[in-house]
Amino acid sequence: AKITYIEHNGTPHEVEVKAGLSVMEGAVKNNIPGIDGDCGGACACATCHVYVDAAWRDKVGTAEDLEKSMLEFAENVEENSRLSCQIVVSDALDGLVVRMPESQH
Ligand code: FES
Repeated sequence: AKITYIEHNGTPHEVEVKAGLSVMEGAVKNNIPGIDGDCGGACACATCHVYVDAAWRDKVGTAEDLEKSMLEFAENVEENSRLSCQIVVSDALDGLVVRMPESQH
C-alpha cells in the first residue's frame, strides 16, 4: 500500500509498504526521519508516535488499551495520535497519510 509520511517540517515521503508490516516498520525500512521505533514495535517506547490524517481516522481505528497507556508517555498527544507500530498496513490503507509530531525530528 502507498503510505505518505509527512515530517513535522512538512517534508512528505511517499513510499510503498507491504501489507502485513506496521506503519512504523514501513518508515524505518525506508529511512524516513521522525519515526525511530526504538522498541522494535512492542508498544513500549512511543518513538513511533504519528498523527493520522483526518480522512483516515475511521479506517485506521483507535488505540487499544496498551497503546493508550503508552501514548501517555508521548509528547503533544492529540485526538488523532497513534503509535505507528500498532497500525498494520493493508490494502484498505492504500493512500494513508500520517504526520510526525514536533518532538520527533
Ligand atoms: Fe516502540 Fe511503537 S515502536 S512503541
